[in-house]
Amino acid sequence: MSNIILVGAQWGDEGKGKIIDILSEKADVIIRFQGGNNAGHTVVTGEEEFILHLIPSGILHKNKACVIGNGVVVDPEALLNEIDALKKRRIGVDDSLIISDQVHIIFPYHKLLDELREKKKGKTKIGTTKRGIGPCYADKVSRCGIRLTELLNPQEFREKLKFNIDEKNAILSTLYGHKGFSLDEIYERYIEYGKKLKKYIQNTPLFLNTAISKDKSLLFEGAQGTLLDIDHGTYPFVTSSNATAGGACAGSGISPIKINRIIGVAKAYTTRVGEGPFPTEFGPDLMKKIRKKGKEFGATTGRPRRCGWLDVAILKHAVMINGLTELVLTKLDVLDDTDPIKVCVAYKCGGKVLKDFPSNMETLAECRPVYKELPGWKEDTSSVTKYRVLPLKARKYIAYISKFLKKKIPMVSVGSERRQTLIRV
Ligand code: GDP
Ligand code: IMO
Ligand code: MG
Repeated sequence: MSNIILVGAQWGDEGKGKIIDILSEKADVIIRFQGGNNAGHTVVTGEEEFILHLIPSGILHKNKACVIGNGVVVDPEALLNEIDALKKRRIGVDDSLIISDQVHIIFPYHKLLDELREKKKGKTKIGTTKRGIGPCYADKVSRCGIRLTELLNPQEFREKLKFNIDEKNAILSTLYGHKGFSLDEIYERYIEYGKKLKKYIQNTPLFLNTAISKDKSLLFEGAQGTLLDIDHGTYPFVTSSNATAGGACAGSGISPIKINRIIGVAKAYTTRVGEGPFPTEFGPDLMKKIRKKGKEFGATTGRPRRCGWLDVAILKHAVMINGLTELVLTKLDVLDDTDPIKVCVAYKCGGKVLKDFPSNMETLAECRPVYKELPGWKEDTSSVTKYRVLPLKARKYIAYISKFLKKKIPMVSVGSERRQTLIRV
């Protein structure tokens, strides 16, 4: 029995989906605990590619329970589409999927408000996925949100929906000149969604704690990444949930004392989608090269990802905030023909050297990276099947990161496929 939390150590898209798929083999239950369908987790199994948005990436393995925990926000239409798409590809969702009755529901007004607010902000926009994530979590915290449990009770649902639609329509017409939404139309549509989702709905904290008491192994699948965490990320350029390890407990109903390992996933370089400071961002030439080689386009929105050098000051922050017990390094192969390779180890800001990732975004925006330069290996790693066969300079790169962070790197990924995963023994 071993309960593992896996989180992104950077700004998301670190390859969490691939690593969860690998680790799922030895897990009994895989749990999403925060975020929503802003996430895009890619799993490549031989010839096939799957992009999961709400359903845990363990779904591709048979006989696993895949739980959408209470901390997630769910767009029922997106979830039902994801279920249908998986079923069409003969993935047995009905035997595996369990959804918390406490998840908060994303409504059309959340998506519209997300979009209109971004438009209104102009240059200061966050660059959200426009999936309604922020407005839905805002309602949750304001205590006017609607959960699946309420959706299953038509009278209660209608009352709560009316309050929300009246309020949101007033905001939409006053601030944005929008005609708003019809209570009846949304009510009817969502009642139907509720009927379709009912069979998956359970008391998930009870289910998960019972699983632990039966010595089952739980694997918590983080979405987004440490720097997108609402508290510990680059606020306001963050998502609206706790994407760090602490979020796994609150978002699932499991006590921290039940957790055995906390794995951080980091790319061998850095990427970010959306706006906000990014000290190690490449100039145009390297940006073009790495984006192309790493296929750095969003799995959810298709937007080009911004790319830059690895920043171990960021990873040090991720080690501290998450209490990482180890790190998995992905996309090493993308650096195969880059030489030299730079790693940001600290920042220069206002004549001072900062060794720690600043908590203040104005400071971060003024930070210039202090780089350590390492030689590139200039060899293909994507076909390497054993860690010890990796080029020496690649192993030295990994060893440098490991030593800097004082953390083991037991797994290295050199391609999107399952077989392109090197386990250090
Ligand atoms: P996630 O959101 O953290 O699950 O990551 P995404 O799926 O959004 O983005 C990671 C992308 O990199 C996906 O297209 C993966 O198939 C791909 N990928 C994962 N690991 C590797 C790797 O080691 N090398 C390469 N070249 N691609 C990888
Ligand atoms: P996975 O799980 C990368 C980013 C958006 C934007 C900010 C806020 O695939 O790693 P939101 O729609 O959440 O309000 O947008 O967060 N973002 C992600 N970036 N990977 C993700 O998920 C992301 N989910 C949200 O681009 O900058
Ligand atoms: Mg992603």
